[in-house]
Amino acid sequence: GANAMWGGRFAAGPSAIMEAINASIGYDRRLARQDIEGSRAHATMLGDTGILGSKDVEAIREGLLTVLSEIEGGEFEFSAALEDIHMNVEARLRALIGEAGGRLHTGRSRNDQVALDVRMFVRDQCDAADQALEALIRALLAQAEAGADWVMPGFTHLQVAQPVTWGHHMMAYVEMFARDRDRFADARRRMNLSPLGAAALAGTSFPIDRHATAAALGFDGPMHNSLDAVADRDFALEYLSAATICALHLSRLSEELVLWSTAQFRFVAMPDAWSTGSSIMPQKRNPDAAELIRAKIGRIMGASVALTTVMKGLPLTYGKDMQEDKEPIFDASDSLMLSLAAMTGMVAEMSANPESLRAAAATGFSTATDLADWLVRELGLPFREAHHVTGSLVAKAEAKGGDLPDLTLEEMQSVHQGITAGVFDVLGVENSVASRTSYGGTAPSEVRRQIARWREVLG
Ligand code: ARG
Repeated sequence: GANAMWGGRFAAGPSAIMEAINASIGYDRRLARQDIEGSRAHATMLGDTGILGSKDVEAIREGLLTVLSEIEGGEFEFSAALEDIHMNVEARLRALIGEAGGRLHTGRSRNDQVALDVRMFVRDQCDAADQALEALIRALLAQAEAGADWVMPGFTHLQVAQPVTWGHHMMAYVEMFARDRDRFADARRRMNLSPLGAAALAGTSFPIDRHATAAALGFDGPMHNSLDAVADRDFALEYLSAATICALHLSRLSEELVLWSTAQFRFVAMPDAWSTGSSIMPQKRNPDAAELIRAKIGRIMGASVALTTVMKGLPLTYGKDMQEDKEPIFDASDSLMLSLAAMTGMVAEMSANPESLRAAAATGFSTATDLADWLVRELGLPFREAHHVTGSLVAKAEAKGGDLPDLTLEEMQSVHQGITAGVFDVLGVENSVASRTSYGGTAPSEVRRQIARWREVLG
């Protein structure tokens, strides 16, 4: 039969396929809480402005709570014929309280209603990401503190570059994840205006109070243009962009954990709780969680691309295309939250191996830059010449099958006469990192200062 909400104009119901393509209830039921919270605020405002009588408002507010508990208790019967969460809730409300339920939609449309629900969901996701990132940052800080002076190789091009410290490396991720927090907070601040009361698109002739509903729902105020309010999804795109960048950081750290836990590196050991075995190879410990986090960016960035593409070229204001905003948002936020939780668990429980880190730091001529700097400082060589002399010394050590400290003083002097025994002081990896005291540098003293600064920022 004709639709219960707009049956007046229709003689017949939709075809089954029309219903299948049109219905969003299969996934937007996740917005039930936001939908009911928004409707309750709307009803209160309708009462306070005298648009509805207080009896009706009371019945609506109570009835909506009943609907919510039915949904949360799993007793609610969702109907695809009612398309989406908005109409499912409203239809049930009318079944529960009768005529008053039919007054709820006064001065409102599903267009501002859905814009509100999605916005509140995304706002919650910004907060959830922020909290999860804080936990991850604290786990990284604990690793940094434990290994503030564990020397490890720093890489460029994945070739050993210069010795750095484990603490320094952990703190690099603290910086990245802290910027991610900022991005979520910034997006949240900009999205925190309410679309409710924009109605279908043009506003309404009822004397509604958009400031009141905005305040009741925790917004800083109402959105300023009703057309924009129902048409905008860039708040969700900002969230997805921040999520993509955060997932990118997670994937880089994951890649390092995968690499570091190999037999070739042995930089970290993952506890059993974060490893999986192989059904055929008995020796295996696979870093599946890290690999999955590394992969999640595919879905998260995919969601960002999907929604950008849905919105591109859409004329103002609402188009049903916009119903396609939800699944990407749900999938991306689920993936991000799970990734953050798993990464926090791994970082908290992994154990770094200071001996392997140090041994690796002493390979690959990692102190060649220290040697070149010494030639500049002690012998007054121009840096370019010092670079050349050091290159020859590296070649000599390599030909001998050793590293720089394995050269004798005589061998050194055969490349440059002025070199003295003092040079050996700078060839050790501990000396190397201890000397890098410039702001933000890898010296343990500097890393400890960075840690202390973040501890203070976090409180
Ligand atoms: N389920 C719809 C969505 O997600 C709700 C808004 C429907 N509005 C409309 N004018 N058909 O976008």
